[in-house]
Amino acid sequence: MFKINDNYLKLPGSYLFSTIAKKVAAYGEAHPDAQIIRLGIGDVTQPLAPAIIDALHGAVDEMADAKTFHGYAPDLGYEFLRNAIAKNDYQDRGCDISADEIFVSDGAKCDSGNIQEIFSVDNKIAVCDPVYPVYVDTNVMAGRTGVYDPAAGTWSDVIYMPCTAENNFTPELPKETPDIIYLCFPNNPTGTTITKDQLQVWVDYANKVGAVIIYDAAYEAYISEEDVPHSVYECEGARTCAIELHSFSKNAGFTGTRLGYTVIPKDLKCGDVMLHSLWARRHGTKYNGAPYIIQKAGEAVYSEAGKAQLKEQVAYYMKNAKVIYEGLKEAGHTVFGGVNAPYIWLKTPDKMTSWEFFDYLLEKANVVGTPGSGFGPSGEGYFRLTAFGSYENTVAAIERIKHL
Ligand code: MLT
Repeated sequence: MFKINDNYLKLPGSYLFSTIAKKVAAYGEAHPDAQIIRLGIGDVTQPLAPAIIDALHGAVDEMADAKTFHGYAPDLGYEFLRNAIAKNDYQDRGCDISADEIFVSDGAKCDSGNIQEIFSVDNKIAVCDPVYPVYVDTNVMAGRTGVYDPAAGTWSDVIYMPCTAENNFTPELPKETPDIIYLCFPNNPTGTTITKDQLQVWVDYANKVGAVIIYDAAYEAYISEEDVPHSVYECEGARTCAIELHSFSKNAGFTGTRLGYTVIPKDLKCGDVMLHSLWARRHGTKYNGAPYIIQKAGEAVYSEAGKAQLKEQVAYYMKNAKVIYEGLKEAGHTVFGGVNAPYIWLKTPDKMTSWEFFDYLLEKANVVGTPGSGFGPSGEGYFRLTAFGSYENTVAAIERIKHL
């Protein structure tokens, strides 16, 4: 008789955004006239930029001709894209990362979930609390997290680093030494971030204790302040302790098109073993790469026209962030984030729990957000709104909230 991976049975409930989608669908069915505005999941709403669309059309035409047709992509991704990434995202910023340290993939969500496979099941992970649920859930699936305490909402073998208004949403170095540290800045869900000096402390710590940092930089395009790092490799010593994850979803609207990449410097080793080799082995074995046409679209992100158009797209979403931030403040809410990130994190009013506020907002304003407690116990009493809606919907949602 076959056996299942019963680690899956330890997972409480369904994936956060699936739970929310089900709840909203049920509400919509019961209230067919409700004009629901979705500011919950961080899914983009603006169309792909013209430079990207042109590249897609061109690549589709290439696929129609035997002379320019492309089959399987190279293991690490096409060189034209990896070269563009290495130059624009790293070398132009003074970061020492080369094209052959970049692995192109179909997105940062998959990579952030899969990367734990190259580590022993004995490793102890440390996560910020609240945290993007994929990091924890995928470690649960792997059997790395111990026993779940439903009352506390925590796992016995996970080190939680609370990030709340009290510590300015900045994680403190943990008392217990972790093996793997997940960091995401600008942060999902709090929309806050850390300075380069603060990140340097983490890099120094990881090198000192022999931990690896998995740095999720999915929201770096939204950074507006000078001293906020765009990459962990801006910090000295990061090549020996950090993996970095990138997404094309948030900076270029690829949530439906799927493209991302992971950087593993060749200096990052466990004894003599390069993590780069392990990930390359995994990539080659389990993955056939993002489609050629999508990688061509990714290359267009780095063209002069693409850069200019995407700057405007980011500005569009950040205008929404401002509308949300200022509107909520005006309505008397306590609000965080929204300056270097497309997420606004607010304290729930009147001591409501995060889910109580979710229901309240859905019922009274027909606005969907994300309950902070869905991201971890320290998210209780907080709530997340995304700036990825249309401008019109964002303004309408905030007007409704102001009038509650
Ligand atoms: C979110 O809403 O947190 C993100 O959209 C999730 C993701 O990028 O997978």
